[in-house]
Amino acid sequence: MEAGATTSDRLGRPLRDLRISVTDRCNFRCTYCMPREVYGAAFRFLPQTELLTFEEITRLAGVAVSLGVSKIRLTGGEPLLRRDVEQLVGMLAGLDGLGDLTLTTNGSLLAAKAASLAAAGLRRVTVSLDSLDDDVFARLNDVSFPVARVVEGIEAAVRAGLQPIKVNMVVRRGLNEDSVLPMARFAREGGYTLRFIEYMDVGHTNGWALEEVLPSAEIVSMIDAQLPLESLPAQYPGEVATRWRYRDGGGEIGVISSVTQPFCGACSRARLTAEGVLYTCLFGTRGSDLRSVLRGGIDDDALREQLASLWRQRADRYSELRSEATAALPRVEMSRIGG
Ligand SMILES: C[S@@+](CC[C@H](N)C(=O)[O-])C[C@H]1O[C@@H](n2cnc3c(N)ncnc32)[C@H](O)[C@@H]1O
Ligand code: SF4
Repeated sequence: MEAGATTSDRLGRPLRDLRISVTDRCNFRCTYCMPREVYGAAFRFLPQTELLTFEEITRLAGVAVSLGVSKIRLTGGEPLLRRDVEQLVGMLAGLDGLGDLTLTTNGSLLAAKAASLAAAGLRRVTVSLDSLDDDVFARLNDVSFPVARVVEGIEAAVRAGLQPIKVNMVVRRGLNEDSVLPMARFAREGGYTLRFIEYMDVGHTNGWALEEVLPSAEIVSMIDAQLPLESLPAQYPGEVATRWRYRDGGGEIGVISSVTQPFCGACSRARLTAEGVLYTCLFGTRGSDLRSVLRGGIDDDALREQLASLWRQRADRYSELRSEATAALPRVEMSRIGG
């Protein structure tokens, strides 16, 4: 199959995006993602031998591109903790037919790595930042990481040309809603695209409760009251963020309403964990172990058929079905699947 081909699932959704987690480790302990009571000293992270090698990741990515994937995002855990990640970026950047190569990071190591990532072929970067207030940020990242160092990372990414820069802010009611407006102003001034993400019930360890979700509609009205907004149309089918533009021309924001307005209908993403398990839904209950398939010596044609068949069988739409009945199902943790 040639690059540009389409492989569709049971609900007619094409395979277009691949998110690759390159490590399950992180230097933050965000309370909504890797709470330290669970991810403490006794937690057993994956040993190096269980991680997919760069060659294995690139081989799988190449097959995915031949099935229609045009965008790859590296994630984690914290992807910049994976040793020599620039080398992987260089290998993926060389894939024929790949339209976009990006990475989501907590920004802690970005100041040091932005230039080498860009030189290796990374196109853009998304940086997560939940507040500009050090105390609030510390309560969220739980390692007292200073805001200023994430901002230095963002500035280094600008200098390296990793643009347009997106900034992800998870909003958790009772914790950082007061940071919404300062973050909106910060992003407007810097020319960054800010995305507000509703706090999601990914995995089971974060003790998620619906009361802690600040619905996107409230976020939009909070900003609109101070900095008037108007809605923007979607740029492409399957765009997860709903976009709004400042009426004065000062840029745009996006809201990702995965809880209050699920967008499963156009979801075109597959997700690969660091140890090579493929999930076809962020809220997946079961993944497929591709590492043993790869290490079992499968040839490229058979690998392509296996991946295509996994996608063709896909019927997941967890967010739309979210209910009492689905709440107790075993779900993969965000730090393994990468958000
Ligand atoms: C799992 S992280 C991995 C990449 C990197 N460590 C980072 O934080 O950007 C990817 C994204 O998922 C978001 N995230 C993690 N847990 C979440 C949750 N429970 N609800 C909503 N977003 C979440 C993070 O804020 C981040 O923007
Ligand atoms: S959201 Fe990112 S930075 Fe925070 S704990 Fe999860 S993986 Fe680490």
